[in-house]
Amino acid sequence: MREHNITVEKRLTSSFLENLEPYSPISSRDKILQGNMTCDLPPLKLDWNESTLPPSVAVKNAIVDAMANNQNLLNWYPELYSKELRRKLANYTGRSSDEILVTNGSDDALDLICKVFLEPHDQVLIPSPTYTHFLTYATSRNADLKIIEADDPFAADITPILQNLTPATKLIYVVNPNNPTGVLLDRQQVATLCTVASHSIVIIDEAYFEFSGKTVLPLLDEFPNLIVTRTFSKAWALAGLRIGYLLTNVELISQLMKVLNPKSVSSLAQIAAAAAIDDKQYMEKYVQDVKNCKLAMLDFFRKKEIKAYDSQANYIMVQHPRLQKLLSEMEKENIFVRDRSTFKNLPGFFRITLADHTQTNDFLERMEKVLDKV
Ligand SMILES: Cc1ncc(COP(=O)(O)O)c(C=O)c1O
Repeated sequence: MREHNITVEKRLTSSFLENLEPYSPISSRDKILQGNMTCDLPPLKLDWNESTLPPSVAVKNAIVDAMANNQNLLNWYPELYSKELRRKLANYTGRSSDEILVTNGSDDALDLICKVFLEPHDQVLIPSPTYTHFLTYATSRNADLKIIEADDPFAADITPILQNLTPATKLIYVVNPNNPTGVLLDRQQVATLCTVASHSIVIIDEAYFEFSGKTVLPLLDEFPNLIVTRTFSKAWALAGLRIGYLLTNVELISQLMKVLNPKSVSSLAQIAAAAAIDDKQYMEKYVQDVKNCKLAMLDFFRKKEIKAYDSQANYIMVQHPRLQKLLSEMEKENIFVRDRSTFKNLPGFFRITLADHTQTNDFLERMEKVLDKV
């Protein structure tokens, strides 16, 4: 029976998927929720760059109000194309709502872009280290991925991308600020990339824009090949609801709309995101707190002569010679971070999501104990 299934799976599965491994989501979530941890301290979940605090109370109120006042909120499909939310996003981003598509997380935006623009064997350039889930979307289109490993992953340098660009390059994926390094390319560098790669789609993933405060959105007026993606999963604290968006010119939007599922963003996610934008100050206060805590974190590690790298996002990278021992001691203190040493050019590195000041003080106290043991 099992053999028969394997034959059927092989016969029916797209040949594009032959070399594709499932994206491996290594998260401490289950461990934390199952409660089988080695100590009683509250868990510090600092592994996925989520907000460490819940969203504004205005979000919860908006959902509760909508549930109370709209009988059909759950049994009807959501508002198609997230019209109301796009109006608010137009105001937030300073762009027209015709240039915005709301998606089921920014992952969905990245997948949509790959579906619309990639054909088998199209060349895709991806500077690495990067957000690896994108590789799954591009690989599932049977694209030829060219992963560019810079000698210095902490240099804000587009030279390695330009050196690998060919007339066959169809798409370039750049996370800005980058995940996991926190390195930011400036607007001029992205403009150069869009100019030199005018035959390619250039995706700039601004998942962490709210922390850097730097965007390339004004370049949409100059470059018809630019697409920017954003998310509500990070600074806005809505990762559990799955909502993000992309911005590009109306010509590319019309191509993307051929495949976009207009009902894939849930009603609750749309309501929550709109309420979050209405209480933008809450998000801004959190971002400011995180930025202040970043300085305290960098200072802490540097005083201990442990290499810690500044970042334009809500995480920092730290390098330690006894990484596995360190990570296991951190877990004993219920601190969960992300091992990034799996990237060839990041030996001994782990990434810590930054938190608010109360959690940061707690983290630093526990780290004192951890470091004494390592
Ligand atoms: C760079 C980057 N892009 C996209 C995503 C996915 O975001 P979303 O939750 O909106 O799908 C992440 C999540 O970690 C990310 O780091």
